[in-house]
Amino acid sequence: MTVEKPYLTGHYTPVADEITATELTVEGDLPPELTGRLLRNGHNPKPGVTPTHWFKGSGMVHGIRLREGRAEWYRNRWVHTPALDGAPYMTEHGPDLAASTAGTHVIEHAGRLLALCEANLPFELTRDLDTVGAYDFDGKLRTAMTAHPKEDPVTGELHFFGSSPFPPYLMYYVADAKGRIVDSIEVPGATASLKHDFAITRHHVVFIEGNVTFDPADHSGIPYGWSDTQPARIGVMPRGKDGARSVRWFSIEPGNVLHVANAYEDGQGRIVLEGPTVDDEGFRLSWNWWIGAPERGTEPVTRSYTRRWVVDTVAGSVDEQIIDDLPVEFPTLNEEYLGVENRYQYAVAFPDEKGFGGYGLVKYDRTTGARRIHQIGDARMPSEAVFVPAAGATREDDGYLLTVVSDLKQDASQLLVLDASGLDRIATVHLPHRVSSGLHGSWIPDTALDGADD
Ligand SMILES: [Fe+2]
Repeated sequence: MTVEKPYLTGHYTPVADEITATELTVEGDLPPELTGRLLRNGHNPKPGVTPTHWFKGSGMVHGIRLREGRAEWYRNRWVHTPALDGAPYMTEHGPDLAASTAGTHVIEHAGRLLALCEANLPFELTRDLDTVGAYDFDGKLRTAMTAHPKEDPVTGELHFFGSSPFPPYLMYYVADAKGRIVDSIEVPGATASLKHDFAITRHHVVFIEGNVTFDPADHSGIPYGWSDTQPARIGVMPRGKDGARSVRWFSIEPGNVLHVANAYEDGQGRIVLEGPTVDDEGFRLSWNWWIGAPERGTEPVTRSYTRRWVVDTVAGSVDEQIIDDLPVEFPTLNEEYLGVENRYQYAVAFPDEKGFGGYGLVKYDRTTGARRIHQIGDARMPSEAVFVPAAGATREDDGYLLTVVSDLKQDASQLLVLDASGLDRIATVHLPHRVSSGLHGSWIPDTALDGADD
């Protein structure tokens, strides 16, 4: 019996072609200060291709160009990697780090656009989303690179890691504000546990190892699985060249963490970390969706609840608890607050067994504990909410949330611009075709791209 792959149907139905459209229809008033590009990546296999795992589908980047109140263009392009043409990841010489789907995230650093997938090298894109090629930081990156690097809002450095199922399990890198790798550090004590995301604070780097680890017996094409014997841990390493001498690993409750919302040192010097987490059953239902197995959740993430860990490095203890009952993923924030205490957090709410019955964007006020939901509507699904600060912002939530909506009833998509303060809709940009639900993206203001005028 052929099992229908959920990542090829409904909101996830791949886009079949690359198009360019100009002068898009806008409802409402696009703030003129939104002058730049919203880029969003996702796994979008070519027509006729059925990947064995959602994350093995080739990456496609969708871009929407806004300038001074107009929506100048939309374009979508596959990231043209060797894997798009069928090159295998595993070769007789080991993994081919350039054989990437490049389909998880797209970021800008030091004026360079990079499409990312955690088992591979980044792929550089032009500002028109054409593929330049694999990028190895002038030969200084010889491992894979996480799809979730962190740009320090103070220094402009890009902090990231590369993980592997084989030693060295975990490498940590820092690129300076000009994009040059200045630190490459092997992190002691790491294991083959799956590491998708991490965090930086002002003074520390925070790694997470959950119960999902390398499993050569898994044949989904991505050989990882849940292990009760894999210890779940948080690794805390001081920032700086000598940090690896002082890395410490702290036991936590079993689970798997895909994404970190933020981390920071509190007033007592403890490290506070938050992110959606699944238990073994939530992971099983989610993974089975990702591979299209019959016993799966209805959503790509099931039973994913926000958890807070407070690591007391002096006492050597961790306090942790689930802090919200809404199933969520794709946490975001005003990235000016990355690494310091943030009041506001945003996420996509999913309609699994506990949600409110639909998709939405949720805003958390961590000071008051209040939660506000923007319901997105029937048969509609939002993408990750990207926060863009307002010009001259004076409050943390003074800005906009940008999300791309997949609308199944209209077989269409829109870019929504919401006021991040009240979650009210400010503007809608109508896109020329439906954009399949995907993963992560970034707002890239023109000020980040020297001489951007196209
Ligand atoms: Fe991710």
